[in-house]
Amino acid sequence: MTDHSVNTLDAIEVIPSGAALAAEVRGIDLSQPLPDDVQARLTEIWAEHLVLLLRDQELEDADLIRFSDYYGGQQMGGARKKRWEIGMKESGKAASTDKRVNYVTNLDKDGNPVQHNRGTGSFELRWHSDNTYVDIPPTGTMLWADVIPDDDSGQTMFCNQIRAYAEMPEDLKAQIQGKNMMHDGSRNTANLVHPHRDMPKTREEINGPVHPMVRVHPPTGKQALFLGRRWDFPSTYIVEMPNDEGEDLMDRLWAHATQDKYVWTQHWKRGDFILWDNRAVMHRRTAINSSQPRILHRTMIKGLPVVAAWESNAAAD
Ligand SMILES: [Fe+2]
Repeated sequence: MTDHSVNTLDAIEVIPSGAALAAEVRGIDLSQPLPDDVQARLTEIWAEHLVLLLRDQELEDADLIRFSDYYGGQQMGGARKKRWEIGMKESGKAASTDKRVNYVTNLDKDGNPVQHNRGTGSFELRWHSDNTYVDIPPTGTMLWADVIPDDDSGQTMFCNQIRAYAEMPEDLKAQIQGKNMMHDGSRNTANLVHPHRDMPKTREEINGPVHPMVRVHPPTGKQALFLGRRWDFPSTYIVEMPNDEGEDLMDRLWAHATQDKYVWTQHWKRGDFILWDNRAVMHRRTAINSSQPRILHRTMIKGLPVVAAWESNAAAD
């Protein structure tokens, strides 16, 4: 007899967070392949809520990869891809040997929790969207919680950039209309310089792709503010503006975009699976208690070229 308690349309239950984005979805077991109709429904739910939480999942890395295949396959992190290309593959107990999955962890190579490791360690991570320092950033990111501290450290916050853009003061909207940002690719999310890069000292030394400041969110046709990641000058900058003016404007944009009214916070439990839309959501992480191990398995969904809001006739308000 078929089990109707999971992976059927009838079994799916959506519980909105009540915040500006995110919903918990029940009735789905990602350790099993999803039928086409369930995939399609989940895609609709994702487009509406942007961040999905599925609890009590017991997953293998192959399950994450299969899930990414529903959306066109996975994409390796930009910095990690570069490290692999130059022979710096991860090693040790805390590393994935599969290039399609990586472990976001505060363990060192001996498997002990630490403040500093080769990744983002136990640090607080500032607001960003993933991998905007590559030409085609990932469509989405998924994390599955394997090991989680018991003190609620290492929370992940998400903020809705469609809502932030829709409610942006008109003078701010006018200032970014048609403008682009150079996305600094020199450092990781913990502000550590990548092994193959140098810390830039001038605007001219900033290296990365140029992306529009407002992009189309393809599943809905809505417009989303697209800020990426920024450090103290010299870092990500607005191409069409002098430095001082651009820095002031970016201060205002980040302050607007990350207000509490646009934010939802994930308090991790083991077995949680989170999927977010990297085209319309920024995220950050609170510091992790460095005496406790934390291991999240991450796969990113392959992106498509960024579409500027002003380049698309299909874009809606
Ligand atoms: Fe991230």
